[in-house]
Parts: sequence; C-alpha cells; structure tokens
Amino acid sequence: MRVLVIGRTGQIATELLPRLAAAGHEAVALEPPEFDLTDAGQVAAAFARHRPEAVVNCAAYTAVDRAEEERDLAFAVNATGPRLLGEAAAEAGVPVVHYSTDYVFDGSKAAPYTEADPPNPVGVYGASKLAGEQALHAAQPRSVTLRTAWVCSPHGNNFVKTMLRFGRERPEMRVVADQHGAPTFAADLAAAAVALLPRLAAASAGDPVFGVTHLTGMPYTTWHGFAEAIFAGAARRGQTAPQLTAITTAEYPTKARRPANSRLDCTRAARVLGLPPQDWRAGLERCLDALMKGSAA
Ligand SMILES: NC(=O)c1ccc[n+]([C@@H]2O[C@H](COP(=O)([O-])OP(=O)(O)OC[C@H]3O[C@@H](n4cnc5c(N)ncnc54)[C@H](OP(=O)(O)O)[C@@H]3O)[C@@H](O)[C@H]2O)c1
Repeated sequence: MRVLVIGRTGQIATELLPRLAAAGHEAVALEPPEFDLTDAGQVAAAFARHRPEAVVNCAAYTAVDRAEEERDLAFAVNATGPRLLGEAAAEAGVPVVHYSTDYVFDGSKAAPYTEADPPNPVGVYGASKLAGEQALHAAQPRSVTLRTAWVCSPHGNNFVKTMLRFGRERPEMRVVADQHGAPTFAADLAAAAVALLPRLAAASAGDPVFGVTHLTGMPYTTWHGFAEAIFAGAARRGQTAPQLTAITTAEYPTKARRPANSRLDCTRAARVLGLPPQDWRAGLERCLDALMKGSAA
C-alpha cells in the first residue's frame, strides 16, 4: 500500500518507517519544515501528490507543560491537524491511524480506564488531543485512534533517556511513585499500525475495528517502578545506578497537572484489533541495548 506518514523523525514515525518498508509498503513521510499539518492547502496538496491508500498520523504537539502557554499551537497541531487529515482522507476514501493519550482522562478513577469512560482532560495538551480524536472520527469514521501512554524509544526525548542521563550525572534520583500507568515502546505502537493496515483497507465504516482503542504496554507500574527497571537494566550493562527515592506528585510540581491514574484497560485492543499489549520490560531491554551498545563495563 502507499502510506502517507505524518511526522518523520518523532518517536513513533522513526520506528514505523522501516517496518512499513519491511512489510512491503511504500511510505512517504512528511513533517516541518517541508510540510505543516495545520495548513489545509498543504494537506490537500500532499494527498493530491502522493495519492495515499492509508494515512498514519505520528505528528503531534507533545510538550505537555509548554502547551499550557501555547494553547493555540497545541490545538492547531493536535486538533485542527487531525480534522484536516480526516477530511482529506474521507474525500480520498482512505483509512487513518492516529495516536492519542491517557491525558484525555483526569486520572481520578480507581481502576484502569476503558474506552467507555468519559474523558475529562485536566490540561491543554490533553484537551487538544481529545479535540483531535473527536474531529478526526467525525470527519473520517474509517479511522483508528490508538490511545497510549508513557511512550519511549531510543529516539527523541523520553523518560528512559532522561533517567539514563540524570543517572550518570547524579548520585541520587527522586522519582514520583503515586502516578500509575504503563510504559509503551514506540516500536510496539508502530508494529500495531503496520498490523492494522491491511484490515483497515478492507473494512467499511461501522466495522468495529474503527474507533478509539486503548493500547499501552503491560504490566502497570509507577514512574518510580519504571525508573527502578531502567536503572537495573543499565546496571546490568555497566552503568552505576543512582540511589532512587520515591516521592509524591506534590513534591515534584509541574506546570501542567498529570493524571494520577493513567492506566488504560487494553482489553478491546486484544479482543477486537488482535493487538495484545506488549510487555514493556522486553521493550526496555531492546531500548537499553540500542542506547547503551558498547557502553558495558
Ligand atoms: N510521548 C509520549 O509520552 C506520549 C504519550 C501518549 C501519547 N502520545 C502520542 O503519541 C504520538 C506520537 O508521539 P511521539 O512521542 O512520537 O511524538 P514526538 O516524538 O514529539 O514527534 C512528534 C512529531 O510531530 C511532528 N510535528 C509537529 N508539528 C507538526 C506539524 N505542524 N506538521 C507536521 N508534523 C508536525 C514533529 O516534527 P518536528 O520535530 O519537525 O516538529 C515530530 O516528527 C502523538 O500523537 C502523541 O500525542 C505520546
């Protein structure tokens, strides 16, 4: 299939492009400065030029704290962009795979969130991503939104890379232990899109494959639990582990509020999409191998 990928160098796109090629797809990936998803003319031109048979949107405004001050930009990329893509995809008759976030929820539920739970974002980033999901599906019902969380990979900025860097620089690390969720490796999210594409191409609007589905790694943990696993893995590769101290969210204030409960129930992904959640501990091993190649003592 000819696949239009929006975003080229972000965490998911970087993992997606080689997987699309390996599966025999022909991919074109676009991002700034040559392409701006928020520009209707550029979106229309990209469809006219590349005539995609499917679209995967890996682009987003992901600076959660900065979004509190850059509301217009966050909404342009995360809400207007998916709407424009949905409109162009509907006109072309092609399906869309999109990614969204646990931040659409306020985190007050005591159990993992299902797709039936009402969203209630507590910050601008979550609000903009929710608006994007809604606009995309309204414009192109033949869309799949994979809501995910705590995305990591060997590329870009993410928690694994931050922990490794700080762990090298500091003897002690204080990490929040009262936010619950599940790390998700970008490679697994990219593989999910590749697995979905043939089914989406064949499915009509109304097929249960379309809609919003939760997809994260498993098992659930906290940022502190994730940090423990990162430092244990780094220690096995020769990096001295810092002393790790569990703290509360109140002890680590950020501009944007984070949901205390980011756990997403991924039952639907396994049952309807045939995408069981992947064990993030295996993804972490691969990520550490990629990041620390040659650094073992
Ligand atoms: N990171 C997380 O922890 C997390 C958690 C939950 C959900 N998600 C979701 O997962 C998806 C992918 O996230 P990620 O971490 O891979 O993101 P990322 O690494 O921040 O990459 C975002 C990509 O979007 C591109 N982009 C930004 N503005 C654009 C525009 N106007 N037009 C076209 N492209 C634009 C960026 O290009 P430039 O670099 O050139 O700007 C970059 O390639 C997003 O939908 C995100 O909301 C992420």
